[in-house]
Order: sequence, then structure tokens, then C-alpha cells
Amino acid sequence: AIDPQFHENREKVGEENGIAVWGPVDEPEELGIRGTHVAVDYDLCIADGACLEDCPVDVFEWVDTPDHPESERKAEPTHEAQCIDCMLCVDVCPVDAIDVDAG
Ligand code: SF4
Ligand code: F3S
Repeated sequence: AIDPQFHENREKVGEENGIAVWGPVDEPEELGIRGTHVAVDYDLCIADGACLEDCPVDVFEWVDTPDHPESERKAEPTHEAQCIDCMLCVDVCPVDAIDVDAG
């Protein structure tokens, strides 16, 4: 599962599409955690898609990640600023790749 303490345990190494990238990153195999309020561990995401389908405010968008060992696309929390903290995405992700910091 995604480390809920990633803010402390990882370093922010950049941004992509305005979304924070938390390392380590070694493309294409290792992509790190993306997002801050809504965070997705790209190295866990298997592109199930439940988060995209269920989020009531459409926070997520697909991004292509060719040659990643788990899946060739990931759910980017592109619109994390719109999140209403319903926690649905956290509940539906089959691999616990999502953390929402509702505190
Ligand atoms: Fe969307 Fe709710 Fe997840 Fe926020 S907590 S990203 S509103 S499903
Ligand atoms: Fe990925 Fe989980 Fe969404 S596997 S696509 S973060 S439901």
C-alpha cells in the first residue's frame, strides 16, 4: 500500500502537469508518488480505473506510462484541488495505491 507518511519519507523531486512528483524516480520502471493532497503511488497502480469512474468531482486523468512493469497508464490526480475528501477512491482502489490527506 501507499505510504501515508510519504511527505516525510520521500523527497519532492519535481512537478508534472502541475502535480508534485515524490521520488525516487527512475523512468520508465520507477515513477514514484504523484500528487500531494490526493496522492497516487504510480509504482503500485495497475490501471484498474475505479478511481476515475467513481470520483464524484473527476479529480483523476489517465496518463500514459509505457514500459512501467505494473501498467502502461496511471491515474494522475490532475485536479486534486477539487477533491471533496469523500475517500471513495481510497476505498475502491484494489491495490491501495491512493492516499487522501483529509486531516
Ligand atoms: Fe475524488 Fe473523493 Fe478521492 Fe477526493 S477523496 S479524489 S473527491 S474520490
Ligand atoms: Fe490505479 Fe487504483 Fe486508480 S489501480 S487507476 S489508482 S483505482
